[in-house]
Amino acid sequence: MEIKKSFTDTYELANGVQIPCIGYGTWQTPGGGVTRACVKAAVEAGYRHIDTAYIYGNEDEVGEGLRDSGVSRREIFLTTKHWVTERGYEKTLAAVDTSLKLLGTDYIDLYLVHWPCVAKVSERWKEINAETWRGFEDAYKAGKLRAIGVSNYQQKHIEALWETCSVKPMVNQLEFHPGYTQIDTVRWCQNNGILAEAWSPLGSGAVLKNEALAAIAAGYGKTTAQLCVRFALQNGILPLPKSTNAARMAANKEVFDFEISEADMKAIFALPELGFSTYLPEDAPADALAE
Ligand code: A2P
Repeated sequence: MEIKKSFTDTYELANGVQIPCIGYGTWQTPGGGVTRACVKAAVEAGYRHIDTAYIYGNEDEVGEGLRDSGVSRREIFLTTKHWVTERGYEKTLAAVDTSLKLLGTDYIDLYLVHWPCVAKVSERWKEINAETWRGFEDAYKAGKLRAIGVSNYQQKHIEALWETCSVKPMVNQLEFHPGYTQIDTVRWCQNNGILAEAWSPLGSGAVLKNEALAAIAAGYGKTTAQLCVRFALQNGILPLPKSTNAARMAANKEVFDFEISEADMKAIFALPELGFSTYLPEDAPADALAE
């Protein structure tokens, strides 16, 4: 597997679009000017790939922070996500326009289905997901979206989409960090031309306090957070670390001057479950399951 060599390297999506290999995440980054300032600081720290979602409620501030940074829109890779209440063809087309307006831009680089509709919610789950995806495809063909993908999908949900789609999902963003890797889904995606992205690559909380990880990181003169970001990259995954602190934003991308050994990779994979959010498509928070 090819491992990215520098922060400015990109992954190539199935349609040829290049995506910067580390993104800045904004889940739970609050409003009231915080997200705006953080996004500006992230761009100043060198990030050119910003990840948000309609449900984060901060798309407007992400757009403001990007404009404050003074860096041209063309140099930024911007991802946002479609929320579960907007499922279906027409509502999806409207959701794209809403996000474009909130972000203050005329195109989105990558638009993701935030959660699949699942069998537990509706026996029509396949049809509902297919109709949503048809909206994605048409907005993509209209040039509003440069790339389209999914998030929190398992193999069965993607295979179901393939039955009716004309454009295959190019990305699957899922929870991935030491202590919770979903590695079978990750490998299946990668073997099928789908880029796996990691949300919560630092597994906020328990993972960062884990002593075994701290000891491995110290062996490389690195922090546990840097070890986590590197662990994603060495698995061919695109990590989306987040921090509201400028020094940590900068530190989290200093991961190209060391390589985790094979033995340490194995030791990390062998860790017991750690920092799992408990969010899975079938047991996600109730609103994430809405039809
Ligand atoms: P903070 O915003 O105060 O830096 P994840 O990306 O896995 O969801 O983790 C995000 C959490 O990890 C945030 O609470 C963030 O807090 C914290 N964090 C981010 N970078 C670091 C770091 N380098 N060291 C310690 N904590 C970090």
